[in-house]
Amino acid sequence: MTVAEIIDGKAVAAEIVAKVTAHTASVAGSVVPGLATVLVGEDPASQVYVASKSRMAKECGFHSVQHTLPRETTEADLLALVESLNNDPSIHGILVQLPLPDHIDSAAVIQSIAPEKDVDGFHFINVGKLGTGELDTAFVPCTPAGSMLLLERVRGKDLSGLSAVVVGRSNIVGKPMANLLLAANATITIAHSRTANLADVVRQADIVVAAVGRPQMIEGDWIKPGATVIDVGINRIPAPEKGEGKTRLVGDVDTPAAKEVAGAITPVPGGVGPMTIAMLMANTLTAACRFAG
Ligand code: GUN
Repeated sequence: MTVAEIIDGKAVAAEIVAKVTAHTASVAGSVVPGLATVLVGEDPASQVYVASKSRMAKECGFHSVQHTLPRETTEADLLALVESLNNDPSIHGILVQLPLPDHIDSAAVIQSIAPEKDVDGFHFINVGKLGTGELDTAFVPCTPAGSMLLLERVRGKDLSGLSAVVVGRSNIVGKPMANLLLAANATITIAHSRTANLADVVRQADIVVAAVGRPQMIEGDWIKPGATVIDVGINRIPAPEKGEGKTRLVGDVDTPAAKEVAGAITPVPGGVGPMTIAMLMANTLTAACRFAG
């Protein structure tokens, strides 16, 4: 029986944040990276994510501004805020937390962010650059970028000859992840809710990226022996064993079962999650350095 290596995303993220902090200090004479986060409404998970992004930005030595707007904010008002941030020379990165309330057209808001300040990598210009392999000038979405760095720790940068299955086809994770794996020479399959025989599709993969948002959906015996498993899911489920009304976080993979088969696996929490924030800091520093020339 093998027991998988646990890929310590928290430690890798801390290394990246330390490098970003040191680099920020070294360029302080010419530029102070500025990150603006925008939260609309009171979604509790979004509140936690945005607060930790703003806090981490301060810890890196950035200028960090958080805009918290009521749920009733109109699309026009949000577009006006983005426009003012686009024109603010002290701001190099703009992050509008998704999901936005239903009455706001998320695509219109995301596309109104200046591509050079789009540290989430969601603007069509950055999506297009990733899709055409212009990785040197693109902003790559933070979760897939962080997932690739964790994968690199185990498999190296070149994935030639390896098959990768991405389960999930979101614009935030699944599609950009597939493009990054392709750029690294993996042979990719994108699976999703309409895929037939998902277990068999996953079983042939050397690399499995789980990004479906369904707690513990990927079962242990779907994993090819020795495969690398990157679990992007963060799901809160009831944990009666901890006491009444208590909850715990789990990924999209049945980790205890998958650990018995996989070669390496990211834990939840402490795997991909911390990498997302670290990559946002790295992207913001990059945006500031590009701005400063
Ligand atoms: N919602 C969930 N993940 C993300 C992310 O990476 N960026 C933004 N802006 N919203 C999100």
